[in-house]
Amino acid sequence: MPSIAQRLMGNPAFSQIYERLWRPVFTRGFSLGGSSTADYDRALRTYLARPGDRMVLDVACGPGNYSHDAARGLSGDGQYVGIDFAASMVAQAQRSQRGDRVTYLRGDAHHLPFPEATFDTVVCLAALYLIPDPLPVLDEMARVVRPGGEIIIFTSVRASAAALPGAEAIAGLSGLRIFGRRELVGRLESLGMEHVEQTITGVGQYVHARRPQ
Ligand SMILES: C[S@@+](CC[C@H](N)C(=O)[O-])C[C@H]1O[C@@H](n2cnc3c(N)ncnc32)[C@H](O)[C@@H]1O
Repeated sequence: MPSIAQRLMGNPAFSQIYERLWRPVFTRGFSLGGSSTADYDRALRTYLARPGDRMVLDVACGPGNYSHDAARGLSGDGQYVGIDFAASMVAQAQRSQRGDRVTYLRGDAHHLPFPEATFDTVVCLAALYLIPDPLPVLDEMARVVRPGGEIIIFTSVRASAAALPGAEAIAGLSGLRIFGRRELVGRLESLGMEHVEQTITGVGQYVHARRPQ
């Protein structure tokens, strides 16, 4: 049965307010009252917008709220592809975040419809904690990233406040998963990824990894 969070993501009204109202509040929440996640998010957007002839895949792209930044610096044959499970999110992205170098598809992160080694950058932001079986999604991301390419993840992580009695139970009931500190990093390393870097901001983590050349 879909969790509360999954049902929310599939709701057409929610897809319309997601980017402007929901995500900024949620981003701040990850810092446990501070602003470190918002600061890191700004830095990530700048990084994604750097110039280059890159193929970028945004797994669970929602309403395409990173496409503007990720597509801004693209040149040559560079393309941004967003994929999401929820029809309402894909429709909202197609309405509000169109661009010459931007494509949105409906699909499941567990079965990415692309050949091996297609993308230079594969991101999955604020989504893994909603996916009931998230670790195989990392395997798929590692499959479609090119040698020398990068994987970028933003999701939850267990921190001291999340370890308070009841916090994980509440997260679990709503369908949000809190990852152990080594869970994603360990999986990426076991997939042979290199330079695996983890930045923790409250109960959020950013992970950056490269596929060896
Ligand atoms: C909280 S939104 C994140 C949107 C955007 N990436 C962001 O950073 O704001 C989570 C998204 O994950 C999508 N999603 C959940 N399970 C998925 C799956 N198995 N495959 C693809 N997308 C999925 C939901 O439809 C939703 O749009």
